[in-house]
Order: sequence, then C-alpha cells, then structure tokens
Amino acid sequence: MSSDKVSTYSLLAQQAKALIEHESDLIANMANLSALLFNQLDNLNWAGFYILRQDELVLGPFQGQVACVRIPVGKGVCGTAVATGKVQLVADVHQFAGHIACDSASNSEIVIPIRHADDVIAVLDIDSPLLNRFDEEDQAGLEQIVKIFEQHLATTL
Ligand code: SME
Repeated sequence: MSSDKVSTYSLLAQQAKALIEHESDLIANMANLSALLFNQLDNLNWAGFYILRQDELVLGPFQGQVACVRIPVGKGVCGTAVATGKVQLVADVHQFAGHIACDSASNSEIVIPIRHADDVIAVLDIDSPLLNRFDEEDQAGLEQIVKIFEQHLATTL
C-alpha cells in the first residue's frame, strides 16, 4: 500500500474504533461511521449502509444525496455484494450490468459485505464521481474498518 493510503486508513481505523467502542446501537454506529468516511476520504459523493431485512436491502444511515430505499438481493452492486458475499469494486458503474443509479453523479463504487455470525447483515456502500476512484489499497483499508465494525457487532448484537 502507498504510504499515504496506509496512514489515511490506519488513522481512519483508529477513529472508527474510538467512535463505536462505547456504543452498542447499530444505527448510531452506522451513522457516525458513514460521516467519518464521507468527510475524511476525498472525492466521494455518497457513503453509507444498507441493512438486510428478509430478501431486501433497506437504506440505512448515510451521507450524500437521497438514495433508493430498497434493493432486492442480487440486484445492483449492493445486492450483488450480498448474493455473492464478495466485495464489489466497480471502476465504472456504467459498465456494471444492473447498476442502480441513485445519484447520477456516481461513476465508481465499492460495496463491502458486513457479517455477523457468518451471515451478511448489511453492506457498506461508497460512491465517487471519479472513474476508478477505488483500488485494492482502498479495498484493504475499508475492509479493515468493516472488520473493526464486525468485531464490535460480535459483542453487541
Ligand atoms: N449503486 C447502488 C445503489 C445504491 S447507491 O449507489 C447509494 C447499487 O447499484 O446497488
């Protein structure tokens, strides 16, 4: 990882841990994490969470423009992350079949599944107006933050 990104994500990881460690409320923690990421990372137009409820993702806490409220599992980038259980790193959302355009400013996107007791329970979704905004280093840094959140969920949910 480049030293810039290493230091950015290492600081973000520390801040994320400090923000959530004394709070057990899922929504409050998602709200603060979305604000942290949206304000500390460059060139984003949306950062937030979708929470899995039965077979649908439902909009959770976020920062950015108003967004689609419900996304079926398997649909869009978020629903694909849930269906496959895998991170979706999309350099150009216009090339992703089935991409759901909530904010027309979005050009690239990363979606990371969030697990509790081995089940995906939510996703972290981050959008950028830049093409190819996210690389493997961003993925690793964001996965580290999701891991901190998952470890916290294991003790609070
Ligand atoms: N683009 C996402 C929908 C959510 S918005 O980006 C906030 C998708 O295709 O699932």
